[in-house]
Amino acid sequence: MKPIQMTRRPLVAALAALSLLASASTALAQAPAKLKVGLMLPYTGTFASLGTAIENGFRLYVAENGGKLGGREIEFFKVDDESDPSKATDNVNKLIKRDNVDVLIGTVHSGVAMAMAKVAKDSGTLLIVPNAGADAVTGPMCAVNIFRSSFSNWQPGYAMGEVMAKKGLKKVVTITWKYAAGDESVKGFKEAFEKGGGKVVKELSLPFPNVEFQSLLTDIAATKPDAVYTFFAGGGAVKFVKDYAAAGLKKNIPLYGSGFLTDGTLEAQGADADGLLTALHYADSLGTPRDNAFRLSYAKAYKLQPDVYAVQGYDAGQMLGIGLSAVKGDVSKKAEFAAALHKAKIDSPRGPFTISKSNNPVQDFYLRQVTGKENKVIGIASKGLSDPGRGCRL
Ligand code: PHB
Repeated sequence: MKPIQMTRRPLVAALAALSLLASASTALAQAPAKLKVGLMLPYTGTFASLGTAIENGFRLYVAENGGKLGGREIEFFKVDDESDPSKATDNVNKLIKRDNVDVLIGTVHSGVAMAMAKVAKDSGTLLIVPNAGADAVTGPMCAVNIFRSSFSNWQPGYAMGEVMAKKGLKKVVTITWKYAAGDESVKGFKEAFEKGGGKVVKELSLPFPNVEFQSLLTDIAATKPDAVYTFFAGGGAVKFVKDYAAAGLKKNIPLYGSGFLTDGTLEAQGADADGLLTALHYADSLGTPRDNAFRLSYAKAYKLQPDVYAVQGYDAGQMLGIGLSAVKGDVSKKAEFAAALHKAKIDSPRGPFTISKSNNPVQDFYLRQVTGKENKVIGIASKGLSDPGRGCRL
């Protein structure tokens, strides 16, 4: 048999190929693994449009940063939580156990968020809540790995209670869905309103997500309060505002609310929302360079105007980016991740905000009035308002 003769040329080529392979595999070994982000949001039901806006906002921030946060490429996993607390634990476990996510982003509904927070606390998975205001999440259930980019239910309620007391209103009826968000919004409102000299004379409610308001509206008409304070959101808020006007109440008994009543809903509410006063940590007419840039970028990407939910999703992205940069992409460094957020001033389209010791935004609440298709700022309802974080030990 003839020995295999290698000429010089193929040998050089083979060596070159080998070294190419070697450098490619080092590059592979050095590229950090993708960061798996689990989005648990409602994509169906009364809060469906809220879930989509949050996802849009979050993805916009990631896209503006070249698809990476803290040096790691982002890979998305999604679950529709249907705003159903009874399915919440199973849904969050799909993301943690099946998909092995590194980070959870969710959700809108307070009852679902509390179930997520329990699993996040027990498993140590990083959780950023981009809407749900459940006071407990940054109260008794608080943890070093649980953050919120939105608000606590107490906050907008308290802000509106201060405003309505200052207006000299005395007798108020409240109306909301009977679940954590409604109960806590009314509680925050009542705390400030009664401290300011008013009285909540009746607390009306119906189960989430029901929208048969008729008998409750009849009750309001009979009670004749000076005003009504309400928490509704999404599809339910659209129907409530329309029914309130159709019942002939709007001109006689002024309707006030937390700003969810009129955010992301104005197209559908039309003239029935005109003039309504609400308190929220965002508005359509801030006119700051930061908000203008965000609104332009969002409108270009989605052919839609952003709302408060889009901002909260975007800021969940910013918070994740700040924390991840501080730990160089290593989510297991929880104390360092949290320390970076406690030091940060988050450059939000809503205006800059900080993170409290219990991991909730400390932020301004605007007094807004519906004018046409916009929630226009007409003043500050409460400046630098911090949730008291009752029951949080960190
Ligand atoms: C909540 O359940 O915490 C919740 C839902 C929708 C909102 C605000 C709060 O717009």
